[in-house]
Amino acid sequence: MSVTALRGRIVSFKDDPFAGASADCLMHEPDGLVIIRDGRIEAVGPYDALCGKLPDAAIVVSYPDAIISAGFIDAHVHYPQLQMIGAYGAQLLEWLDRYVFPAELAFADAAHAGRVAKTFLRELLRAGTTTAAVYCTVHPHSVDAFFAESERFNTRMIAGKVLMDRHAPPALLDTAERGYDESLALIRRWHGRGRQLYAVTPRFAPSCSPAQLDAAAGLLRQADGLFLQTHLAENLAEVEWVRTLFPGSSSYLDVYEKAGLVGERSIFGHAIHLREQDFCTCHRTGAALAHCPTSNRFLGSGAFRLFDALDPRRPVRVALGTDVGAGTSLSQLATLNEAYKTAQSLGHPLDAIQAFWLATLGGARALRLDDRIGRVAPGYEADLCVLDLKATPLLAFRTGFCDSVEELLFTLMTLGDDRMVRATWVAGVPVYDRDRGDDARFQ
Ligand code: GUN
Ligand code: ZN
Repeated sequence: MSVTALRGRIVSFKDDPFAGASADCLMHEPDGLVIIRDGRIEAVGPYDALCGKLPDAAIVVSYPDAIISAGFIDAHVHYPQLQMIGAYGAQLLEWLDRYVFPAELAFADAAHAGRVAKTFLRELLRAGTTTAAVYCTVHPHSVDAFFAESERFNTRMIAGKVLMDRHAPPALLDTAERGYDESLALIRRWHGRGRQLYAVTPRFAPSCSPAQLDAAAGLLRQADGLFLQTHLAENLAEVEWVRTLFPGSSSYLDVYEKAGLVGERSIFGHAIHLREQDFCTCHRTGAALAHCPTSNRFLGSGAFRLFDALDPRRPVRVALGTDVGAGTSLSQLATLNEAYKTAQSLGHPLDAIQAFWLATLGGARALRLDDRIGRVAPGYEADLCVLDLKATPLLAFRTGFCDSVEELLFTLMTLGDDRMVRATWVAGVPVYDRDRGDDARFQ
């Protein structure tokens, strides 16, 4: 049995900082030790108290001037869109036609899918993200390419084949029946294999016929623990289109609810233009919303009302998503920076403890994985990221003036991006080390 330990400043969470006093929810160990045995965290505590318990053969890796955190969780991202991230000048519907669909057409080539999946996984790890809910394309081999790469790193990932049978180029369309059959085969191949989990993935209501939405609900009944991911109320023109396509539904979310797609493993991206009734539906059903602030600002979609969603009278589970390629960064630090600015524009500052909770344990809770990921705590899977407090000259200078761990975290999320990630560990293995040479950087 192999024992490894990480020494450094540890930050993690005990509870939900939106539900109580946020400082009480924080676990902070200024000089801590994380002991890992066979991919899981065995013990966490002060270095002085724990170092005597290490077996002689244990390897201890020290990270001075750094914060050891649970790996980040990205609840909404499109790996095929890495090649057109940062595409100029259009809002959602035109942006899909002009940039996204052409990029996804290239995934007819399985070798292309393999190359992009490889780059994407490495970029996630470079950003300190160890779990993501990922959209592939309509091509089943795009899902194989992604999970094969995830399996190589042993990352805990959620992904699925996009379902769409209308309103896109013909080469990107499936049918309700073919989408069902291909998804079922992928579920049987990948769901629960190692750390891989499957998400049934109807792209959004405008690209799915009512028959396809029904088929998606049928897929959810085929195995335990399946996820449902889709887009919801992102853009006003999209909301209006859904109203005309589904005249019998009382809201965009109601389209999904009538189809049987709203439940406790449903993840809805964006959810900007919701009414109170929709938040109540999410609360009642336990569905999660993915807040994608860099994307929402980039496409000019609007501002997600985070603190309305989290209203303690009927709290909705919220996770954080990058939504690359509409999102402009795979870094959850950069995403938190934008989440803070969005919250400010709505008159409600997001503090650093709340922010880091969203990127770690809060995200895990929203995805119903908080019994195994999202915390630095005994029994948890050892997915960790190490954030370098001296990553840039400005950060090193600024953190020299920080008086508290809250201020350190807030500075990290304000100035931070992938440069701050010193190392990423997956199931107890150091899979990414920024400071190794090019060839050795990834395991
Ligand atoms: N709505 C439907 N498809 C997409 C997509 O790929 N990205 C975003 N941001 N919204 C969508
Ligand atoms: Zn998206």
